[in-house]
Amino acid sequence: MKKLVILTLFAFALTGCEQGKHASTGFSLPEGDAKRGEQVFLSYDCLACHTLAGYEDPERESLLPKRVPLGGDRTRITTYAELVTSVINPSHKLAKSMWPEEVSDEQGQSLMTNFNDVMTVTELTDLVTFLQPQYKLKAFNRTNYPNYFP
Ligand code: HEC
Repeated sequence: MKKLVILTLFAFALTGCEQGKHASTGFSLPEGDAKRGEQVFLSYDCLACHTLAGYEDPERESLLPKRVPLGGDRTRITTYAELVTSVINPSHKLAKSMWPEEVSDEQGQSLMTNFNDVMTVTELTDLVTFLQPQYKLKAFNRTNYPNYFP
């Protein structure tokens, strides 16, 4: 019986983390304006470090050894909340990269510029309204292993 109580408490403690004061539930963004978001994207010069289909500029110099692609095919939905987090707290979850040193410094912090003191909330909501539809959901393709004939 005592074991059961301890186990139950433990389970509560575990799930508690998700519902604690840092939980992302209840987070909701106002509707943004994609057209203005495009202007925000261009004026903050996101392309100095990123690529986005339809906005290629081979002349443009990159601030990174390799630009980080935005948008395109993903195997899971990229949400508004994830995009907001990527912009206001880039180190929270670093972009998947084969070479982490290309996207983060020695302390594991993102190399992305921090815009928090200059970008307004309206600009942020417009920006993610513009960005989110650039992410397309693509079915996960299983590796096609050739048939094995003994
Ligand atoms: C100085 C370079 C730099 C600039 C400027 C920059 N970023 Fe980034 N950004 C990065 C790096 C490096 C990463 C990868 C590490 C990470 O996930 O934080 C990144 C990651 C991201 C991601 C997550 C990508 C993923 O696949 O997980 C988003 C979204 C993003 N940036 C949006 C923006 C937007 C929007 C702007 C312009 C307002 C911008 N960035 C400007 C360097 C930059």
